[in-house]
Amino acid sequence: MASKMWGGRFQGGADTLALQYGASLPFDRRLTIYELTASTAHVQMLGEQGILEEREVAEIVDALGRLGVEYADGRFPKEPAEDIHTAVENYLTKLIGPVAGKLHTARSRNDQAATDLHLYVLDYGTRIGHTIRDLQGALVELAEQHVDTIMPGFTHLQPAQPVSLAHHLLAYFWMMERDAGRLHDCLNRSAQCPLGAAALAGTSFPIDRQAVSDELGFDAPYPNSLDAVSDRDFAVELVSFASICMAHLSRLCEEMIIWSSPQFGFMEIADAYATGSSIMPQKKNPDLCELIRGKTGRVYGDLQGLLTMLKGTPLAYNKDFQEDKEAVFDAVDTLLPALTLMESMLRTATWKPERMREAAELGFPTATDVADHLASRGLPFREAHEIVGKLVRLCIERNCALSEISATELRGFSGYFDADYTAPSVDESLAARTSYGGAAPSAVQAQLEEAKAIVKAAEEAATEPDES
Ligand code: ARG
Repeated sequence: MASKMWGGRFQGGADTLALQYGASLPFDRRLTIYELTASTAHVQMLGEQGILEEREVAEIVDALGRLGVEYADGRFPKEPAEDIHTAVENYLTKLIGPVAGKLHTARSRNDQAATDLHLYVLDYGTRIGHTIRDLQGALVELAEQHVDTIMPGFTHLQPAQPVSLAHHLLAYFWMMERDAGRLHDCLNRSAQCPLGAAALAGTSFPIDRQAVSDELGFDAPYPNSLDAVSDRDFAVELVSFASICMAHLSRLCEEMIIWSSPQFGFMEIADAYATGSSIMPQKKNPDLCELIRGKTGRVYGDLQGLLTMLKGTPLAYNKDFQEDKEAVFDAVDTLLPALTLMESMLRTATWKPERMREAAELGFPTATDVADHLASRGLPFREAHEIVGKLVRLCIERNCALSEISATELRGFSGYFDADYTAPSVDESLAARTSYGGAAPSAVQAQLEEAKAIVKAAEEAATEPDES
């Protein structure tokens, strides 16, 4: 491995395996762009403060720019190094000689590593936020088309009460809305700048932490240098948000797996997002949905890993923290495409309203309405429940629907039935659930308006030039 940042005190060479095991360059090279941005802001501040000469600053900034071009071209990093911070310094030293070493004045890899990961979290967190909005947009557009598409609502995966496809999809809209809120909170709290905390205790150089923080787009510098280099809450929070968001995607995936089975046939996933079988020619498998469901486990693993890594580490920096990066990268690499794929799968799927309606008729989904009728006429609900249970048994014996039992026959079960009452159709049952947040088309329409207003506000915020 090429030159290290800490050779002076050491006499013996390091063990090759130890060096390899301790290196983070294989994964923290992904932070190159943030490392360069942060280094540029730092060295410019050193110049402003008169800590470095203008000429030195210009030389270092120019070299950082050249490195950026090499990175974009895939030519950096080429040489092995302990981490991205060392790789950048080695490169600069090759390019401009010993003056490169002045970049490290009043900073440490501890505050650098923390700053780079903060910048990554803020950058990718923002991208994830936009992707969540796109997915919400797809859910709303689909819901708009299916306010009247009746489908069975389930509990225990058994038919329960009729709902609409719009209502079902909008449930996911609200989950995503909470995810967006959690992400927003996480990014707000992550917007503190560690740079200038140096190794752990700050520095005796007259640095301007506020200026660096402003330049890098943070809200403020961390007020405590120990906290600045030891804090990994921002990573935990992002991966925790990602875990919950993956749980939501996984649940929707599970539903799509069920819905797209021939037995349900509520939908068909587009060919582009399905796969076949190497042996069974008839197969069309929802692999991607299964994979998102499966990968949810690995994001939980990332969260578990981070929390466990953090626990018991004394202040300030510990090498354990190097483990923060892969967990964050993995969670982001898993979540971001999953959100995009889910949006595409929803937009391109074929929905089968006739099959949903057929299924909505099965399993006596209006039984609660019939019990509600009796209760509304004064019979205690518990007794009403018992009577309708008996009615359902009769229907099972006769192989008929509740609505096929005549008013006269119903009166034989209870005098509380209105003289002309018969059980409602599934459409009537659905239309009756007009309570706020209920499944009736009129209530769903109102819900849709709320959802659309949120999507619109998010779109406007995203196009505002001064988005904070
Ligand atoms: N590669 C290290 C990390 O990612 C950088 C910080 C190293 N600092 C140190 N004192 N060993 O955490």
